[in-house]
Amino acid sequence: MAGKPAAHDPQPQWALDTGVPHTARVWNYFLGGTDNFASDREAAERVAKVNPPILELARASRAFLVRAVRHLTAEAEVRQFLDIGTGLPTFNNTHEVAQGIAPESRIVYVDNDPLVLVHAEALLTSTSPGITHYLEADLLDPETILREAAEVLDFDRPVALMLIAILHHVEDTGEAQETVRRLMDALPSGSHLAVAHAVHSPTMDEGARQWNQVGKPTLNPRSPEEVESFFDGLDVVEPGVVTTTHWRPGDVDVGAVPEVDQYAAVGRKP
Ligand SMILES: C[S@@+](CC[C@H](N)C(=O)[O-])C[C@H]1O[C@@H](n2cnc3c(N)ncnc32)[C@H](O)[C@@H]1O
Repeated sequence: MAGKPAAHDPQPQWALDTGVPHTARVWNYFLGGTDNFASDREAAERVAKVNPPILELARASRAFLVRAVRHLTAEAEVRQFLDIGTGLPTFNNTHEVAQGIAPESRIVYVDNDPLVLVHAEALLTSTSPGITHYLEADLLDPETILREAAEVLDFDRPVALMLIAILHHVEDTGEAQETVRRLMDALPSGSHLAVAHAVHSPTMDEGARQWNQVGKPTLNPRSPEEVESFFDGLDVVEPGVVTTTHWRPGDVDVGAVPEVDQYAAVGRKP
């Protein structure tokens, strides 16, 4: 991986247990990837059986990530990204989209899944003048993330904090809000927050109930208002906090774009 080496020898938060379905691998399965195990595929099918639109949701979420990074790089002129909850590398990863527009962009990826660590070190690479760096750390330990990310990111200049399909893995809403606040407090004016988050519906809630019986970490859908609360103190850019597919759909989208049980938004720190 290009960029500075990690300041320490990262230890996995938990050992790689292929018998317990994990969100990074199940998400990879929903996105059409092959970096998953039998237990992940079984759990994915169990969820998809009660919540069939989950496949479209996963792809819509990834498409939002791409549109948000394009906006952040091309329009907001952000050149630094802190992407927490990286997931297994797939197509159109954050650094590829950002560096495709601004090659000097610096990206720090963070995840706590040991399999993500292995794949990220092999695949999430960039060449000069950009930097791509990977940290194994927990979202709920923002001080460690900020301290180690500071080796690569300049916190005197705007940073885009990417929290795509991760905050719904934090069970307590107050703890999730506090974590976002601590991270955004460390970033200067002109920084941005991008969030995509599962929201309640009968099928989403049943899918979460099924997932929480077998998989890790838990899935906790919230209301659109709760998703909006993560942007307190920020200026939410158009079109606001909306179903993911309605966040600046591309010029190739035709007709009414179907909604998904996930809300997304981008906000700017004034
Ligand atoms: C559903 S995937 C989303 C991946 C990616 N952001 C995307 O949009 O394609 C959630 C990711 O968050 C990671 N994750 C979940 N809880 C975490 C935590 N507390 N700290 C760090 N990473 C976490 C998982 O390991 C997984 O890779």
